[in-house]
Amino acid sequence: MDTLKVAVLGLGVMGQTHARIYKEMPNAELVAVYDIAQEHASRIAESYNVTAAESLEELFAVPGLDAVSICTSDDQHKTLALLACKYGKHVLIEKPLADDLAEAEDIMNAVNESGIKMMVGHTLRWDPRYYQAWRAVQEGKIGKPLHFHARRNNSYQNGLRLKGRTSVIMFLAVHDIDVLEWILNDKIVEVYAIEVRERLQQFNVADAVVCTFKFASGAVGTYETSWVLPDHYSEIDAKLDLIGTQGVVNINIFSQNVVVHTDKHFTYPDTAYGVDLYGKNTGIMKEELSTFVSAVQENASFPISVEEAYRAVHIANCIEESIKLGRPVQTV
Ligand SMILES: NC(=O)c1ccc[n+]([C@@H]2O[C@H](COP(=O)([O-])OP(=O)(O)OC[C@H]3O[C@@H](n4cnc5c(N)ncnc54)[C@H](O)[C@@H]3O)[C@@H](O)[C@H]2O)c1
Repeated sequence: MDTLKVAVLGLGVMGQTHARIYKEMPNAELVAVYDIAQEHASRIAESYNVTAAESLEELFAVPGLDAVSICTSDDQHKTLALLACKYGKHVLIEKPLADDLAEAEDIMNAVNESGIKMMVGHTLRWDPRYYQAWRAVQEGKIGKPLHFHARRNNSYQNGLRLKGRTSVIMFLAVHDIDVLEWILNDKIVEVYAIEVRERLQQFNVADAVVCTFKFASGAVGTYETSWVLPDHYSEIDAKLDLIGTQGVVNINIFSQNVVVHTDKHFTYPDTAYGVDLYGKNTGIMKEELSTFVSAVQENASFPISVEEAYRAVHIANCIEESIKLGRPVQTV
């Protein structure tokens, strides 16, 4: 089978990860990169010995290009996704599908009309811990899900780095909204949320959001998400405690099961998402990109549909509306 020729658009934290993984993948070929910061794009392109396109027209005209990864900030997703549809290129787009519901809908419609394949990078679908939780529920091991607590707290450095370009709900909660509906095989019908603003006030965004979910089956749960964890704490503090009629599933992501101590402080190196192992990137992100490449090559479906990713944006929107209105919001 021919290698899949791919380009990466947007070369920040995620774009550089995508570029590196494609470069190391045997059945993909990184052929070009593009970023509005052209000097930055040239540096990355040089390190991978690929073309740095100077415009989107030049990027989409790269001979043999099959697919693109869209890794720009969320507010640029729609423009770039619609261009990919126009040029008939398959897309791996970072989550959220878009940070605006109407834009997410435009992307979904354009994908369906164009016939390209689009996978949305809801990373937790490839996280073995969430996959095991999904499997346990599908196999009936915990009976009927009744109630849960979930959490996704992230470092203050991430809150600062994103400078209010997105909200903690669109950046973090979309992950859990998607996996909760997937794991419970159920739909959220009501959300009720409150927020706190303190450390990120200069960017006009919440530090943390706490919310309740009610599902169509009657299952209920609480959820918290923040991006103000202190420096030298774990970068990610995520949790799921799901209680069913006949069992429980627990996910606890904090220390990564490895701690490196020095005279000054200690760190928890990543052992799951993007691990440097003997000079190559491995882990959840690599699994996600490998799924994309092989599913396009084999014309297979992806573990997550564009409709499901759209739904995560819809529920995120309902949470934001609930905060504004100060009351529960029905999602249907
Ligand atoms: N899957 C995950 O776990 C995960 C984690 C972090 C971020 N993300 C998502 O990945 C995406 C990128 O996030 P990030 O943290 O890498 O952002 P970032 O701010 O580090 O990088 C964004 C890059 O896009 C470039 N850019 C902006 N507009 C552009 C345009 N029109 N054309 C080309 N380049 C453009 C910027 O110059 C920058 O280099 C976001 O959608 C974010 O939500 C996903």
